[in-house]
Formats: sequence, structure tokens, C-alpha cells
Amino acid sequence: MLPLGWFWQASLLPDTYDMAAMGYPDWGGGPEGRHGHHDGVPVASLTADPDAPADVRETFTVRREPDGGFTVNGTSPGPLLEATVGDLVEVTLINENITEGTTLHWHGVDVPNAADGVAGVTQDAIGPGEEFVYRFVVEQPGTFWYHSHQLSHEQVRRGLLGGLVVYPSERDPDELQQVAVLHEYEAGPSLNGAAGVTTVDAEPGQRVRVRVVNTDNGETRAWVTGASYHVVAVDGTDLNDPGQVEDRSISIPAGGRVDLGLVVPESGARVDFGGTTALVLGGDPTDGGQASPPMAEVDLLSYGEPSDLGFDPERPDRHFDYRIGKRPGFLDGRPGMWWTINGHLFPDVPMFMVEEGDVVVFEIENNSDDAHPMHLHGHHAVVLSRNGEPATGSPWWVDSLEVKTGESFEIAFLADNPGLWMDHCHNLPHAAEGLVAHLMYEGVTSSYRVGGGTANTPE
Ligand code: C2O
Ligand code: CU
Repeated sequence: MLPLGWFWQASLLPDTYDMAAMGYPDWGGGPEGRHGHHDGVPVASLTADPDAPADVRETFTVRREPDGGFTVNGTSPGPLLEATVGDLVEVTLINENITEGTTLHWHGVDVPNAADGVAGVTQDAIGPGEEFVYRFVVEQPGTFWYHSHQLSHEQVRRGLLGGLVVYPSERDPDELQQVAVLHEYEAGPSLNGAAGVTTVDAEPGQRVRVRVVNTDNGETRAWVTGASYHVVAVDGTDLNDPGQVEDRSISIPAGGRVDLGLVVPESGARVDFGGTTALVLGGDPTDGGQASPPMAEVDLLSYGEPSDLGFDPERPDRHFDYRIGKRPGFLDGRPGMWWTINGHLFPDVPMFMVEEGDVVVFEIENNSDDAHPMHLHGHHAVVLSRNGEPATGSPWWVDSLEVKTGESFEIAFLADNPGLWMDHCHNLPHAAEGLVAHLMYEGVTSSYRVGGGTANTPE
């Protein structure tokens, strides 16, 4: 038995540290390569083509308001960022007055690593009066969002976020695009910044795509009254042959998105979100009454029809466990009950090591008495099974996956985006409590440092 003081001392984080050097390498049963070498490709060099001109160019000025909230160009949510697939998006972030510094992360967009916006991992936090230019090509149409990844548990909750939509190249001109950014502010839940019911003009027969973004720390659900609907996309990926849904709700994990497709009937349609906000299209079929949530839910494990994944997850090159638990211990000198990953407390957690081109399988298991919306940066993973039950529906590609306590998921992806990527819980206070690991490509070296002596505090 080691004395308690030893554990306290051993849990202290050094003043500044290289995230890539924390914890221990986990090679997932694949070949062990080099780790911790300093002669590889630096994270900072993993950018979009610096000579390519931008197709979409925006300036986002972020500010801390007198009431403690954060805004982007004066509003929260910030402006909707819109692009078309294939566009090179260039956003200049200007930090007007946020003393602790800030960044922007493009949640769900598989950007080049240096544009990922994680303070201390892919860039330094941008101090007050400073600016930073993000450049990335949007290769996938869909619904995404952006948010700060510096002190994110605080800055995101207080509004440093906005929606991001990438349209397909052939855009359907007859489909009404309606973004619904859900966020709970100090004053309560909101839809695109407004409390309660938001009404949108729409004629009967109008086709609508409702792009729902859950920017909160917990799961929510959406349901439709007055019309049937289809869950046309999840986390920015269209589902294959999604069936018609009636009297069922759809859950949206923290950080996750769903796109709902519907046709407005004679008497209008109403989409409710968690029972706190709603979108009325044309007319309110409930006559303003509180629409009650249906008992049944859409289960994405069996919804829609299977189709080709584009890779074979049957014989993975790497197989990792991501087992989430909870136990007493010290986190940076603070005693408490802390999250564990494969039995280890942050920062002594696995560094999941991959090689470019690997087929990677993760087995996520949660026995921590709490739900965790797990978010992998830079990649989309497909769900293979839940609690041992194989997926039978449309390929279910996620970047944000709700893993309830007692549940296990097997997910797979192709390692096709070199860098150092966070893989963490998007209930952001949980991330700040240590539910954070990283995926690291062999041959990549880190360019930044986290910790006290720097301003970088990604969680
Ligand atoms: Cu939405 Cu690590 O982030
Ligand atoms: Cu969590």
C-alpha cells in the first residue's frame, strides 16, 4: 500500500505538458511503431493547401459580454456558417476581449488536424486582441456546428457556438432548409436563441429539412406532431432508405445532429424539442397545446436499409477498448470520484495509436453510472453493434454517440486523417473531469503544450 500522499503527488500535472506524451501508448493489437519521437510530421503542418483560394470567407469576432455570456459577431448562437461541398472555408477568428483565450472547433467536420481548434493540441489559445485563420475543405454535406475548444465546459455553455451547414452540390431548390440550434442558456432552453415556440411560414405541401443541432451537455429528443417524418441524416451523414416515422421520437446526443424530412400538411406541423422549445411550420396542429412526447423511439440500430460501408470492418488492423468507469482517486491533486478509461485516471490514460490506412475498431463500454456522449474528432465511425446486437439498418455513421451506463458499442472507422485527435465525452464538465483520451497517428508529432504555463485549457 503506497501512502496517500504518493497518489496525490503522482496525480499532479506538470506545469505544462505535451498531450501526445501523456499516458501510455495502446497499439490496439497492431504493429508497434514509434511513439514519442520528435522527427515526424508536426501537427501544425497538417493544413489545407495554403495556396488554394477560399470559396467561403468569414470573420468571426468573439466577445465576452458584460453579463458573462459569449457572442460571435454580437449574437449567440453565432452566425450560421454555410458552404457547399468541396468549398474551401476560411474563417478568421478575432478574440476581442476573452482574457482566458479562445478557439473554434468545427464539430463533426473532418478538417485537417491543424484546423481542428483544440487549444494545446492543434493550436495555441487565441488571446484577447489576437486572431487566427482556420482553413479547411468541406468534403461532406451535412449539419454540423462550431464551438470554442478552450475552457469549453464554460465557453460553450455560455454561448460560444453556432450552426454550420454544408449543402450538397445539387441542392434541391424546393426544400426549405430550417436549422434548429438547441442551447440552454442561463435563462433557459432556446431554439436559435429564442425561448418557447418559433413559427416559420410554410405552405401546405412544402418540403422541409429540419437540421437539429444539440449543443447542450445532455441528450435531448425531437418529435413531430401533425405529420409523419423521416430521419434523413445523423451527424452529417444521410441515412440509406430511411422509413416513414409516426408517433416516435428521435434522440439526439450532446453534440449530435439529426436532420428530419417532412412535408407540411394542411393543418401545419410542429416539431418539439425535449418538451421545452418547438418549431411550428405553417400552423400549429396542437393549437398551441403542449405536445406530449410519444412513448416509442426510433432505433437507429435497425432503422433504414443496409448499404456499402466503403471499407471492411471485419478484419480490423487495430482493436481498442474504451471502457469508461468511475473510482475514487486524485485528479491533478484534487481528491474525488473521477472517470476512468480502461481503469486509468487522466492523464495516465491510453494514447490510441494508429497508422494511416488502418481499419480501426473501438469497443466502448460504459459502467460508470452515468451516460456519456462520446465524440471522436476528425473521423466518422460506423456503429457495428450495441450490447452485442449487430446493426441491421442503414449504415449509422456518428461523430457523437450516446453511450448509456451498462451499454457497450462496437464502432469502426478508417484512419484516413493524420493527426492528434481528441476522443472525449461531450458532456463537457465530464471532459473537464478527465473523460478525455486521444487518437494519435504514428509519425505525427505534437506542436503545442497544455497546462498552467501556457494559456491552453482545452476542456
Ligand atoms: Cu464538440 Cu471536442 O468537441
Ligand atoms: Cu460523460
